[in-house]
Amino acid sequence: MKMWIFLVLAACAVGDSALGCTCDTMKWATCEDNPCRCYLLVDDGAKQPLNCSDMIPKCFLMKGEMYRARKGQSTRTLGGKPVETAFVDNDGIYDPECESDGKFKAKQCNNTEECWCVNSAGVRRTDKGDKDLKCEKLVETYWVRLQLKHKEVANPVNTANLKSDIANSIHKRYKNFNKDMVEDVQYDPEARLIVVDVKKPMGNRKSDLTQMAYYMEKDVKVLPLFKDQVPFKPTIGNQQLDLENILVYYVDEEAPTFTMKHLTGGIIAVIVVVAVAVVAGVLVLIFAKKRQSQRYNKAQQREMEAM
Ligand SMILES: *[C@@H]1O[C@H](CO)[C@@H](O)[C@H](O)[C@H]1NC(C)=O
Ligand SMILES: *[C@@H]1O[C@H](CO)[C@@H](O)[C@H](O)[C@H]1NC(C)=O
Repeated sequence: MKMWIFLVLAACAVGDSALGCTCDTMKWATCEDNPCRCYLLVDDGAKQPLNCSDMIPKCFLMKGEMYRARKGQSTRTLGGKPVETAFVDNDGIYDPECESDGKFKAKQCNNTEECWCVNSAGVRRTDKGDKDLKCEKLVETYWVRLQLKHKEVANPVNTANLKSDIANSIHKRYKNFNKDMVEDVQYDPEARLIVVDVKKPMGNRKSDLTQMAYYMEKDVKVLPLFKDQVPFKPTIGNQQLDLENILVYYVDEEAPTFTMKHLTGGIIAVIVVVAVAVVAGVLVLIFAKKRQSQRYNKAQQREMEAM
């Protein structure tokens, strides 16, 4: 009889932890049971509550990442083995100020005397100034261009349904992301580039493009923010593509006001260009049809300089 009760209790315990509350959309979250509540540590003793049924606002994610970096904790999940493009991920992350709903405050200072204005993606859109810098309002990013480079494939990619294939892959991966916002998709087989334009109507404040872009950037460049750590592999035709790089361009409802610093040549500059483009790139890219992959980085640089 005692044994039987023990078994029932043991079964309950196992059942409980299997049902235990977890956060699918944030691998660094800590969750408490009864009732299930998850949060992210963003400072000593500062717990940011999370809604794990949705993607987590980028501002909270950046705060959490900065805190982990300060604590010397890994900002990756599978510590040790760096991925190919890991060194490029030095993407000018800072410790942002967030509104209670997860939006970025228009003015950011990174705990220093130096301040700048950001867009709704948290990306700097003005020159840096001192503490008295005025940022009238948070300027909305209404268009994001994702430039995805995939690895070599054995068979040619079947692009008959390119746009809907990409839209479906994004919708499946990035919770609640409205696939109607995928406006245009282009493909360059030689450069192995997929260029995805994601747009919302100007003035729309309900949808947010930048969360999805940030999750995707992490998926491709470092490791997924999702708990399950499954890589993002869009399915085009009936092939799953492995991605090797991503560039994200932001286009705001109002043009940015910064002056670009001149960039020097060499391989370091290419890395800088990639990092700068991810953080500060606000430009219209001409999609060159016959661009070879070697010329690709140089073309990037020219475009940045042209700005
Ligand atoms: C959490 O997110 C889901 C999906 O967007 C939403 O339906 C729900 O109302 C949110 N819950 C809270 C407490 O905000
Ligand atoms: C913000 O501050 C951190 C630590 O002081 C630094 O590593 C980082 O480069 C700064 N970021 C920006 C965008 O200034």
